[in-house]
Amino acid sequence: MQYGHFDDEAREYVITTPRTPYPWINYLGNEDFFSLISHTGGGYCFYRDARFRRLLRYRYNNSPTDVGGRALYIRDGDDVWTPAWMPMKSELDSFECRHGLGTTKIRGSRNGVSAEMLYLVPLGETAEVCRLTLTNESSSVKTLKVFSLVEFCLWNAWDDQTNFQRNFSIGEVEIEGSAIYHVTEYRERRNHYAVFGVNSPIAGFDTDRETFLGLYNGLHEPEAVLEGAPRNSIASGWAPIGSHCLEVELAPGESRSFVFVLGYVENPVEDKWERPGVVNKEPARALMARFSETAQLEAAVAELRDHWSSLLEISTVESPDERLNRMVNTWNPYQCMVTFNMSRSASYFESGIGRGMGFRDSNQDLLGFVHLVPERARQRIIDIASTQFADGSAYHQYQPLTKRGNNDIGSGFNDDPLWLIIGVAAYIKETGDFDILSEEVPFDNDEANTATLFEHLRRSFHFTLENLGPHGLPLIGRADWNDCLNLNCFSETPDEPYQTTANREGRTAESIFIAGQFVYTTPDYADLAEYMGFAEEATAAREHSTQMEAAILEHGWDGEWFLRAYDFFGQKVGSHECEDGQIFIEPQGFCVMAGVGVDDGRALRALDSVAERLATPYGIVLNQPAFSRYHVELGEISSYPPGYKENAGIFCHNNPWVMIAETRVGRGDRAFDYYKRIAGAYLEKISDVHRTEPYVYSQMVAGRDAVREGEAKNSWLTGTAAWNYVAIAHHILGIRPEFDGLRVSPCIGAEIQNFTVSRRCRGAVYRIRVTNSLKHDGPLLKVNGETTKGTLVPYAPAGETVDIDCET
Ligand code: BGC
Ligand code: NOJ
Repeated sequence: MQYGHFDDEAREYVITTPRTPYPWINYLGNEDFFSLISHTGGGYCFYRDARFRRLLRYRYNNSPTDVGGRALYIRDGDDVWTPAWMPMKSELDSFECRHGLGTTKIRGSRNGVSAEMLYLVPLGETAEVCRLTLTNESSSVKTLKVFSLVEFCLWNAWDDQTNFQRNFSIGEVEIEGSAIYHVTEYRERRNHYAVFGVNSPIAGFDTDRETFLGLYNGLHEPEAVLEGAPRNSIASGWAPIGSHCLEVELAPGESRSFVFVLGYVENPVEDKWERPGVVNKEPARALMARFSETAQLEAAVAELRDHWSSLLEISTVESPDERLNRMVNTWNPYQCMVTFNMSRSASYFESGIGRGMGFRDSNQDLLGFVHLVPERARQRIIDIASTQFADGSAYHQYQPLTKRGNNDIGSGFNDDPLWLIIGVAAYIKETGDFDILSEEVPFDNDEANTATLFEHLRRSFHFTLENLGPHGLPLIGRADWNDCLNLNCFSETPDEPYQTTANREGRTAESIFIAGQFVYTTPDYADLAEYMGFAEEATAAREHSTQMEAAILEHGWDGEWFLRAYDFFGQKVGSHECEDGQIFIEPQGFCVMAGVGVDDGRALRALDSVAERLATPYGIVLNQPAFSRYHVELGEISSYPPGYKENAGIFCHNNPWVMIAETRVGRGDRAFDYYKRIAGAYLEKISDVHRTEPYVYSQMVAGRDAVREGEAKNSWLTGTAAWNYVAIAHHILGIRPEFDGLRVSPCIGAEIQNFTVSRRCRGAVYRIRVTNSLKHDGPLLKVNGETTKGTLVPYAPAGETVDIDCET
């Protein structure tokens, strides 16, 4: 069942009923100010950090779901309704929500009145703006009252939801004209406030929630609106809100637009006050002046559209499969931008207070983003590397506002360091900016202890080598990519977190995943070492990798697939000898991607085992059989009921590793088949089962052992976005930047017979026409009409266009 459709021309997903199976959201903002907005207007916004600088209050895990954020009420005579459907769940004559690239447009109509809200965060602004257009579609005059509503968060979102003994006494506001200022804590250490204004005179306002709603009322029954009378309340403590009341008269056929601005304003500390006790509102007035006319907002929309068009035209495909085109050209890169911006901090499943930027997550997010805005990827690499420790290990997370490593979670995730090499290599392949390797970068943000970025990579690489276990395989530490494989944890009490608890300190538990990751990383690392003039380091690295490969083949092969790990006691994890969890997806994907077993048939065998044991119609599950009981020696993985999350869920992030691995052994049909099983555009028709947004990937889809098989969770913020982009664009369509040229090596199987790709890289444009006849052993290339050998096309000078014909 579908709840809308793609509008490819407009690059929007059009939701045609408010009753979607879950709130379907969008992200507004790309720089410093971000909004989450659902198709019924729920959500919140924040400046840079969803924990410390949150403007709007939002109650996660609430019932009904998704109440809060913004609301707009219309009072038409005695009829009160909400055009976004929520919070009143008004019966509407029509409803439509269009989530586009950085814009969301929600329109509802009732009794001859239509209201359309267009939301965006304009480029360069720290504000969410909304154009409300009211149209009288009836044949008589309409006299309306419109009430806006936002509920302010008292900035620190964690405190806001917990520290009521303080919070109920600190809320403060100021009013000036049509602008409501939220100034809680400004009197002391804050030099920032929020402003909520509208470009029209108002008939009244409210800033105190209890006065506006009534103490025992929900947002669906605001007293002030139901009685048609704003109270002009001034919040003092309790819960500050912002609500304007507009009186609007519309002749038949008439339309009127209003612009609301919800902004974050920061003053220099010395300019905090206009006069003693009065907040300096100058920057807020200037902000509102930039949107006092509807035309200014429209210009901002056009600017945003152009911005996205220029980003997305960097890499495009035209194929006979429109679902493929819309994933590759629009929605997958769009999600990659969002994951790059947010890491795993704020979604409808991540509260924005728990986790900051993940070391491994952000390095992987780079992979799908780096071609879009390489300069930002560069800065991100420096930020991430600055949180690495001098011994090569790393903080698992850091806070976006301070860029400091997060002590609560600390380090000890032994895959983390290698992801830095993978991220940096991807950046250099895309840009050719080898100079980044010579940048001085601190360890643990200590400016007194710095080294070149290459030295950071060297320490990452050697961290793995210095931490090998009894089989010569890497020690897993607290966990590797799979956060829930906690082999040193041994937790018997419910109150300790799996990820940060190590009740036994051992040097026995080893990860075959990290071993595969090490072999995968080595060729790039060795090339970079050579580039830096460290030929011996390069040779030594390659030798280490050969040894690691031998260790995998000797101790990490179970007969029909790669083992997953050795536990604290040296027992196998992911072996046919195990009771549960006999086979895991991660080492099959990563070892084959690294080329392990490709020459001797083991890679094929491992991938066939994946197909036989792990593949399901909804995607490839993480392990089988699911753990049916708690295994104290394995940790969180066995805590989940069978079929969910890391316990045999379809953890979409690692599916593309198998797709890439399939292309490594030349099986494009299988790779593309797996691709289609989890890509949103192909799942649109089963939205009722899948439940999350059909335009983005979710982290997890319930696996075959689950009660709710096929149901997705944790949409948006997942490494799935970047890795699927890599799988489809680089390996299945097969166009990928390498250090010395653009590789053109499609592997998509028989279904797609012809396609073209346009790819900008290092300033040149490559137009690639693929005739996918599958007649040849490997792809045959003509570059600008000339037959060439091999599949690597040397980079052309910036400004040139290169025409490539590729026949498979
Ligand atoms: C989840 C993992 C996640 C981890 C983060 C676990 O509960 O299952 O997917 O990475 O928490 O701390
Ligand atoms: C989600 C985490 O963000 C990611 O870092 C981890 O690899 C996966 N869960 C798997 O546990």
